[in-house]
Amino acid sequence: MKVLFVFGPNLGALGTRDPSMYGDRTLETVMADVVDAAKTRGWEAGWRQSDHEGDLIGWLLGARGEGVDAVAINPGALAHYSFALRDAVETAGVPVVEVHMSNVHAREEFRRRSVIADVCRGSIVGFGERGYHLALEAIAWITD
Ligand code: DQA
Repeated sequence: MKVLFVFGPNLGALGTRDPSMYGDRTLETVMADVVDAAKTRGWEAGWRQSDHEGDLIGWLLGARGEGVDAVAINPGALAHYSFALRDAVETAGVPVVEVHMSNVHAREEFRRRSVIADVCRGSIVGFGERGYHLALEAIAWITD
């Protein structure tokens, strides 16, 4: 089982970006634990982050060709307005799980809408870095 985690704009600043909202650990540290957790399942997990929309689209469209079985994505703010990202999720051809660390429903109005949610297999919101581990569990469930 091969899982790809994709991170959008500003997620590379984890650790310093509003720690009360997103925690004080870097993306590298958080994902090292997730990669280890995937290994204990006998899975291979990789991750990529970019502040550029087109990179995320390219990774989604290329995932299947790279042998990826499922994608977990935290698109950052792109979730709220990127129809191009939505089209890529729809076209990816593998299940995609949306993750937001914060409870986007308890924040500003614009964060309540995700334009990718209905083309994702499901969404995990509000559980901080634990959400990425929950994504592994969700992927185990939907690919069983
Ligand atoms: C986020 C929520 C988004 O609204 C925000 O723009 C982010 C992070 C989250 O993980 O809670 O960049 O995706």
